[in-house]
Amino acid sequence: MAQTNRQPSVALSTEPYKGTRDFYPKDMQFRNWMFGKLAKTARSFGYLEYGGPMLESFDLYAAKTGEEIVNQQLYWLIDKGDRKIAVRPEMTPTLARMVAAKINELPRPIRLFSIPNLWRYERPQRGRLREHWQLNVDVLGGDPLYAEAELLTLAVELMRSFGGAERIQVKVNHRKLMDAFFTKTLGLSSAQAHQVVKAIDAKDKVSEDKFKAWMTEAGVREDQFEQLTRFFSSDIATVVKEVPCEGADHLQKLFAMLKESGVGSQVVFDPTVMRGLDYYTGTVFEIYDTSPENNRAMFGGGRYDNLMGIFGKEALSGVGFGMGDVSLQNFLDTHGLTPKFASEIDVMVTLPKEEYRATAETITRDLRSVGLNVITPLAIGSFGNQLKLATRQEAKLAVLFGDDEMKLGAVLLKNLATGEQVTISTAEVCAKARQWLS
Ligand code: HAM
Repeated sequence: MAQTNRQPSVALSTEPYKGTRDFYPKDMQFRNWMFGKLAKTARSFGYLEYGGPMLESFDLYAAKTGEEIVNQQLYWLIDKGDRKIAVRPEMTPTLARMVAAKINELPRPIRLFSIPNLWRYERPQRGRLREHWQLNVDVLGGDPLYAEAELLTLAVELMRSFGGAERIQVKVNHRKLMDAFFTKTLGLSSAQAHQVVKAIDAKDKVSEDKFKAWMTEAGVREDQFEQLTRFFSSDIATVVKEVPCEGADHLQKLFAMLKESGVGSQVVFDPTVMRGLDYYTGTVFEIYDTSPENNRAMFGGGRYDNLMGIFGKEALSGVGFGMGDVSLQNFLDTHGLTPKFASEIDVMVTLPKEEYRATAETITRDLRSVGLNVITPLAIGSFGNQLKLATRQEAKLAVLFGDDEMKLGAVLLKNLATGEQVTISTAEVCAKARQWLS
């Protein structure tokens, strides 16, 4: 193909692609801090980090991811070898593929976490973008009840690590309970139940009238609609009596275990939590900010029993969740939980004359060798100009020297935050800098 190096006739936009973000150093500092805390909590529960490719076969998502993502949100392309591939919209299918590939080698329970960037063709809005990063935590194997209790405890601990555990609510439901309620209690056909599930999943995004209209469309009668509305505000103890089934029993036991794990007060039963993804088969949950400003789910997850089946492997059941960086950032901003970050530049070693460069380089090397982040001005300059430059670059300390200091084998070390300064021998610079920075 012919290559051209011609300039475009209209200057290109400096905006990032719609629904994506640029991360300047301050943004990266925040992101690294946030991801560092997420990874630390996941590791504290013994979860090990994994990674995977950004491109996967289209079929991997077509199989189980669900129609909204596959039909409306997937970025896909045909590669030069005529393969239909997709940019990952979620991590769970990659995880399932990787686990299936080594199903007999990985020690169980398999505890894994990852923080991939994911792509969905969404209408950008508060809490939803086209590219986001998502902490994924999954456990495969183990007794489902114990695994779910651990995972939900971990989710609450993640929020506690940011100082926000009291400001979230974990809403839990069970797909088998809902199946029993729709088919046995309400007497809906499975096609009707499918339509009702989709409508309930989108309930928060539409008006009451619209929701009612969807129900009518699905053939739900007035008395069934009333029963459904009553069910929405039931607690689990009532549900266990009124809709006796495996799902209700499971939830009751799970809530008791979560109390034992010390997170009972953050968890509630919520029959409106459906989860749009097709692979969930049991417990499903979402975590919400209690502040009405952030009304989209921050986390979403659940149990999947049959995901390995698409790879022709044994049915190893798993449970996991995804938590997005966009909603977490909104949460932290809303509740004032974002810290002020210190500059990453510890010291600037100035350079007044070319012949002093060797001395400046020795001091710079020594400071770096004791673990400090050190910059140099990359040009020769006057005392005043270099001091200004050090401030602009947000250095915490500056090392300054001229003819007088050189004669004495000394430097002037200045603390740019407090204005304090001392003249010390070059041999003492590292110790003094570390003392001021500690
Ligand atoms: P999900 O509910 O699609 O689940 O996404 C999980 C979380 O990712 C959401 O609650 C939200 O915080 C964030 N998120 C999703 N889409 C966007 C977006 N367009 N912009 C910003 N944030 C977004 C899953 O993806 C499942 N694979 C999670 C899972 C892991 N289930 C089991 N293991």
